[in-house]
Amino acid sequence: MKEKIGAIKLELDKDLETIKTTQDIVDIKAKYIGKNGCITELTKNMKDLSPEERKEAGMLSNEIKNYATSKILGKEEEINNAILNEKLSKEAIDITLPGTEIVNGAPSILEKVIEDFEEVFMSMGYDVVDGPELEEDRYNFELLGLPKGHPARDAQDTFYVKGDELLLRSHTSPVQARVMTSKEGKEPVRIICPGKAYRRDDDDATHSHQFTQIEGLIVDKDIKLSDLKGTVTVICKKLFGEDTVTRFRPSYYQFTEPSVEMDISCFNCKGKGCNICKNSGWITIGGAGVVHYDVLKGCGYDPEKWSGFAFGFGAERCAMLKYGISDIRTFYNVDLRETSSFDRKEEN
Ligand code: DAH
Repeated sequence: MKEKIGAIKLELDKDLETIKTTQDIVDIKAKYIGKNGCITELTKNMKDLSPEERKEAGMLSNEIKNYATSKILGKEEEINNAILNEKLSKEAIDITLPGTEIVNGAPSILEKVIEDFEEVFMSMGYDVVDGPELEEDRYNFELLGLPKGHPARDAQDTFYVKGDELLLRSHTSPVQARVMTSKEGKEPVRIICPGKAYRRDDDDATHSHQFTQIEGLIVDKDIKLSDLKGTVTVICKKLFGEDTVTRFRPSYYQFTEPSVEMDISCFNCKGKGCNICKNSGWITIGGAGVVHYDVLKGCGYDPEKWSGFAFGFGAERCAMLKYGISDIRTFYNVDLRETSSFDRKEEN
């Protein structure tokens, strides 16, 4: 019996050294202390022994049973801890790793340029007003000296929505007529209106069927062309840099007389000539003029008492010049990589 127990103990110690998995634990329990385990077997034949021998055998088998149980349970705990630790180390979160980058949005360049215009004009006492994009023929054309059948209407290839009365405004100038008629010729006007306009243009790098204008109108006493020149010059210096020079070329619009085309010296070459200004040294940024006698009259203002000037800047054009953008479609195919790169340019 003693030898048998000694052999079992030796084998158990050897087995305990090699086991690693929870299955090994299950197996070793079965082999030694399970229902048919070799230690359990020891007690089964004791009935054939003498009472003396039985007592000793009982003691010895209890001893080995306790020994085996505590050793196996100790090993089980060891293995379970090792498994847990391995699992924990594999699942551990490394708080020193950099986080996933959150992509920030970036302001629209066009929106920024519009806001810049608004800020400068507001500082000069102008109100920012809104007008409908779905416009009546009367405001878009008739009150601006473009009656039905007028050939100049063709130049503004218009999207008509309902018959020939309702259209998508082809410029922001109808806001002038709306504001003047709403005031019934009684008070001075000083407004700008940034907004969308639509023309049946084929889209390319410099044309878009939807574009943005910044309309402006001032009506008061003794307003002259020189006031327009002074105002536009101050604005352009503020927006494009103090060294910006303005130029006004004679032009023709039905709603202003005289009419001008507004140019600024090329911010890139400072007037020397480059590919941005097509070697002319000048860049056109919009049209303007002194409000036509008939427009004032048609909108309820007495042209003998009141006078005014009006202008329309091309917003995309200004933004393209300011940020060196060569394709107008950049504004309408929103690509965060592009807008945020302009954002960074601004910061630098
Ligand atoms: N509405 C004109 C256009 O779309 C631009 C313009 C010219 C606006 C002269 C004005 C102006 O207010 O006085 O081409």
